[in-house]
Amino acid sequence: MTAHGIAKPVLLILGARGFLGRFAAAAAESSFRVIRADRDISDPATDIRIDITDPASVSAGFLSVMPSAVLLLAAISDIDRCERDPAVAQRVNLEGAVHVANACATHGARLLFTSTGAVFDGTQPEYREADPPTPLSVYGCTKADAEAAICSALPAGIVVRVSLVLGRSGQAGTNSLVDGLIRRWQAQDVVSASTTEARNPIDAPTLAAWFVELLQNRDASGIFHAGSTGMMTRLEIAQALAQGLGFPESLVRAETTPPPGRAPRGARQFLIPERIAQFCRTPAPTCDEVLKRSLHEPAQGNPRA
Ligand SMILES: NC(=O)c1ccc[n+]([C@@H]2O[C@H](COP(=O)([O-])OP(=O)(O)OC[C@H]3O[C@@H](n4cnc5c(N)ncnc54)[C@H](OP(=O)(O)O)[C@@H]3O)[C@@H](O)[C@H]2O)c1
Repeated sequence: MTAHGIAKPVLLILGARGFLGRFAAAAAESSFRVIRADRDISDPATDIRIDITDPASVSAGFLSVMPSAVLLLAAISDIDRCERDPAVAQRVNLEGAVHVANACATHGARLLFTSTGAVFDGTQPEYREADPPTPLSVYGCTKADAEAAICSALPAGIVVRVSLVLGRSGQAGTNSLVDGLIRRWQAQDVVSASTTEARNPIDAPTLAAWFVELLQNRDASGIFHAGSTGMMTRLEIAQALAQGLGFPESLVRAETTPPPGRAPRGARQFLIPERIAQFCRTPAPTCDEVLKRSLHEPAQGNPRA
């Protein structure tokens, strides 16, 4: 209920136990009744089970909660895993997204789909929303195809592309780069970071605030680029994180050529965040602000515990 006794609209978060899910739920709580869904849930009293690859599971989940808005975070987010197993990537990232878009169309729910700068080949100095996708990897292809399917099925749908999200999830088994670095540095493991791949990172709390503002703004539809106002190489990001977290810089090594067997990654993914600034109150942060906000553990308890 809101302070005026009006029932809050229901927001269904799919893939809620992943890295971004926790930040999104915290940001949405004051405006929405948040229902968390995943294919594997820890608390049946508060969460529901939905496997997005199964249309019957998606349909039953929608019928049970009747969402006004849906945040689709569920994905195979590991780019190298997608390259190794393209069938699974296709089934989850494309076909799963289509099942969710169809359910949103049936129920009149707004959809926000999370996509990636990997829809671009990284050869341009910067990217705007109207630039045509040129993916290099299986992950980028599945996301570009899902974007196209969603935009055609749901003209009012929202697609948010990000190149790299930084933040500490405080839980094991998610896609958080910062958590992964901390685990390796605690084990005194030297981490290689690219001198040639550059990104405009965004911190998870700012991204989550943008998700909520876009879902609340009836005029927002189509593709939005989300990121900081500046760009850094992966080496610069790793060095800054090591310093901010109190680890010696000797635990970061410059990597000039990618190791064999990795999925191809574009060199530069600078997603200009101008359009999102026209629709959202939360300003696009600088890289320094992103790095500072990424160092702290979130305050909430651990939903995976
Ligand atoms: N983090 C980044 O830097 C970044 C950058 C660009 C784009 N994105 C996009 O942002 C979204 C969220 O990313 P994230 O970092 O939070 O990823 P994440 O930590 O890997 O979380 C993804 C979640 O989706 C769930 N999931 C996977 N397959 C599913 C299925 N068939 N049905 C239901 N749930 C399923 C996973 O559950 P399991 O743990 O059980 O597999 C996990 O809870 C993804 O679409 C990702 O592609 C993230």
